Amino acid sequence: MIFSKKKKADTGERPGLVVVNKPSSVVSEQFRTIRTNIQFSMVDEDLKTVVVTSAGPASGKSTIAANLAATFASKEKKVLLVDADLRKPTVHKTFKVRNTDGLTTLLTDRNAHLDEMIYRTHTEGLYTLTSGAIPPNPAELLASKRMEEIKQEMLALFDLIIFDMPPVLAVTDAQVMATKADGVLFVIPQGSANKDEVMKAKDLLEKVQANVLGAVLNRVDKSDDSYYYYYGE
Ligand SMILES: Nc1ncnc2c1ncn2[C@@H]1O[C@H](COP(=O)(O)OP(=O)(O)OP(=O)(O)O)[C@@H](O)[C@H]1O
Ligand SMILES: [Mg+2]
Repeated sequence: MIFSKKKKADTGERPGLVVVNKPSSVVSEQFRTIRTNIQFSMVDEDLKTVVVTSAGPASGKSTIAANLAATFASKEKKVLLVDADLRKPTVHKTFKVRNTDGLTTLLTDRNAHLDEMIYRTHTEGLYTLTSGAIPPNPAELLASKRMEEIKQEMLALFDLIIFDMPPVLAVTDAQVMATKADGVLFVIPQGSANKDEVMKAKDLLEKVQANVLGAVLNRVDKSDDSYYYYYGE
C-alpha cells in the first residue's frame, strides 16, 4: 500500500497533540484510560468507525479526536483521523499539512483516490485525511452514497477511523455521520457546558439511533494549562 505522494508532515511541535509531544504526561495517561474504557465498552462489538462531536462549538472535539487517534495508533493498529468538519476544519492545522485536497475532493472528484489524499504522520500507525476545500453543502455530501463508498474504502485500509465533526446543535452533519458510524464519542466542556443543550444534543443523536459510547469531559480553562479528561457512560 502506498500512502501519499505528498511530503511527510513537518516535524515541528504540534500544540494540542499532547500524547505525541508529552507521552508520559498525566494527560497522555488520561487518553490511554479513555482508550481502555472505549475498548471495554465495546467488547462484543466491532468498533471500527467513531464520530467525535459535542453539543456546541469549541468544546475540544478536534483536540480529543486527534489525541485519541494518536493514542489508538500503533504498529499493529492503523488509525485514520478524518476531518469531517467541513465547516471549520482544523486537522491540517494540528498536523501542519496542506489542505488543498482531502475528503471533499474524494466526494466530488471521481478520479481522486483515497490513498493519494492521505497523510502519513510521525506517529506510527497514524494517518490523516484533511477536509479539502470547504463545500457549500457539507450535510448533503456526508449523506451521499459516495461517502458510504469512501467509508468502505477506508475500512479496507485501516483498523480504526475517527471522524472529527461539527457540533450537533448547529448543523446536521454529526447526526448524518453518526448513522454511518459504529460509535459516537460526545465531548462535554466541563464548566461551560449548558445541561439543556447537552441533553438536546443527546436526544438528537438518539433520534438517529446513534450508538453513543460515552462522554469525554474536557476542561477548557484558559487560566489553567492543565487538561483534565474523564470518560464515562
Ligand atoms: N482541555 C483543554 N485545556 C486547554 N485548552 C484546550 C483543551 N481542550 C481544547 N483546548 C483548546 O480550546 C480550543 C478549542 O478546541 P478544539 O478546536 O479542539 O474544539 P472544537 O470543539 O473542535 O471546536 P470547533 O467547534 O470550533 O470545531 C483550541 O484552541 C484548543 O487548543
Ligand atoms: Mg473542531
